Amino acid sequence: MTIPPSFIHDLLNRVNIVDAIDRHVSLKKAGANYVACCPFHNEKTPSFTVSPTKQFYHCFGCGAHGNAINFLMEYSGYSFVEAVQHLAASTGISMPDLQPAQKKGIRPASTQLDKTAAHTIQDIYEVMRIATRFYREQLKQSNSAISYLKQRRLTGETAARFAIGYAPEGWQNLAAIFPEYNTEKTRNILIRAGLMIAGDSGKYYDRFRDRIIFPILNQQGQIVAFGGRTVNHGEPKYLNSPETDIFIKGHEIYNLFSARKAIRNAKCVIVVEGYMDVVALSQHGIDYAVATLGTAVTDFHIQKLLRHSDRIIFCFDGDNAGKKAARRALENSLTQLSDGKTIQFLFLPENEDPDSFIHRYGKNAFEQQISQSIPLSEFLLTVYSQELNLRRDEDRAKFIHDIKPLLHSISAPALSIMLLNRIAQMCDMNVQELESLMEIRRRISRSPQKNMHRKQPISPYRWLLLILLHQPGYFSRLDQKLILCSNDNNEELSALKVLIEVLNKNPEIVSNAPTTSLLNYLRETSFETLLRKIESETLEWNDDLNLDAEFSGTLQKIADIQRKKRMTELHSKPLNSLTAEEKQELQRLAMH
Ligand code: UTP
Ligand code: MN
Repeated sequence: MTIPPSFIHDLLNRVNIVDAIDRHVSLKKAGANYVACCPFHNEKTPSFTVSPTKQFYHCFGCGAHGNAINFLMEYSGYSFVEAVQHLAASTGISMPDLQPAQKKGIRPASTQLDKTAAHTIQDIYEVMRIATRFYREQLKQSNSAISYLKQRRLTGETAARFAIGYAPEGWQNLAAIFPEYNTEKTRNILIRAGLMIAGDSGKYYDRFRDRIIFPILNQQGQIVAFGGRTVNHGEPKYLNSPETDIFIKGHEIYNLFSARKAIRNAKCVIVVEGYMDVVALSQHGIDYAVATLGTAVTDFHIQKLLRHSDRIIFCFDGDNAGKKAARRALENSLTQLSDGKTIQFLFLPENEDPDSFIHRYGKNAFEQQISQSIPLSEFLLTVYSQELNLRRDEDRAKFIHDIKPLLHSISAPALSIMLLNRIAQMCDMNVQELESLMEIRRRISRSPQKNMHRKQPISPYRWLLLILLHQPGYFSRLDQKLILCSNDNNEELSALKVLIEVLNKNPEIVSNAPTTSLLNYLRETSFETLLRKIESETLEWNDDLNLDAEFSGTLQKIADIQRKKRMTELHSKPLNSLTAEEKQELQRLAMH
């Protein structure tokens, strides 16, 4: 199946590669780009870079490189067509018809399946929307559910704002609201959405029954899952959607989508344990709280949250489970820390959670608690020393032994130095001793980008490739003849010629400025690797580069090279063998 290049081009123009990748690998802003630890090789410091302006990714460590389509192929193992279908489905663009030639021929069965698969993702979103509407409608009609929420002091306004609903009792409620339920396709979609369960006896039944429903939105604001709380002490207390094609439990954060603006305004995000905590806080005017979905806080969550705010406050219940959860969060935070980011911990009084606390004491008291939350460093030292008596040598040794691996995983250089000083103080040691004991070598800040590309003069052909890959619009100003009649034995020149051919064939690339899909037209040419590498170099370009000047300067340089070459050629002939024209030419060239 061939997909017209212009479709690919449009698709890549509509997709934002940052979102497309962030769905799988949590990205962190770093200057104009986003970075992460590379998903394609093992590394500790992030060298995987995604450029939002240029719409491609590049790993300075392993060389992985490409656009959103390439990413899906490499990351999810999709074929090219599957990756395109997937992206198209996620942006709501419908796939073009198959080429007539292929329509007539026999298509492998898998292609047909892929096509439905791509449509199914949209269908899953759609049934999630319909189900949400249904559950919300049902809440209005259920006195018991309403009185439950009232008893939990939720207002109707809050319930509406969080799109809270109610899944009534009964096993077949959803079947009744999907008119095509009896077709296999619809039933499959409901199952793949996690809304229905296929029983052993070939029967299908609703997953959520007699539960308050909390819709969970992804970062694009689409409903991807539900959390369902029992109203009548049923087990489990909370039942969540299973993982589906649109829902990875450990990746989503409850309320993050809706809280984005409040988080920006408050300059911090509060992480609490439960749905009800988030909702209650919001009802009292604290709109910048989020929750994980009943899972421990992972480094993935932290990375994601740090992209929204430089300050995270973990607020855990005052019980033992809360303390344990805090410790997990602490340990998972260390690798994500950088100087300039703050992570704090807030422990509420025993037997209170944010929900009960805010109802009892109100917003001011809660904010008062926030202001008293303790910084990560202090929490770390407390946790690791609390059961020890640091006046005893053995306990000091144990303290150092236990805390050593944590100190090693801290990625913020200034913070780790300060912690080292504190630990030295606590243990009554000098810092050098402690440093050697901890086997810490002061990290010299290094930038992989800078180390890997030493400045070398760039050949003019490479310059042209850089500029054209960066901004294909320059093609219209290119003196093609100048390149096409150059005959150096040079890989960059050959690549340039191929590029010119491609640009001549696909004028839409030139007219639609962004570089998005240029490399896509060059898939499977022998220059793909070279061009990828060259394209990645433009990642380091900043706005003060005068492309116009570089472009005309480069053309001049090439003209100059050709002129000199021709002169050498003519000079190498005996003067008397030159024709009159050649003599004239030589004169002209020399006068330049
Ligand atoms: P908690 O048990 O602390 O409950 O679970 P809660 O948030 O205070 O709930 P209420 O106030 O009794 O309604 C915290 C979070 O852990 C997940 C849910 O995400 C819940 O919000 N959880 C809890 C589950 O996923 N399943 C469970 O059975 C219980
Ligand atoms: Mn609670």
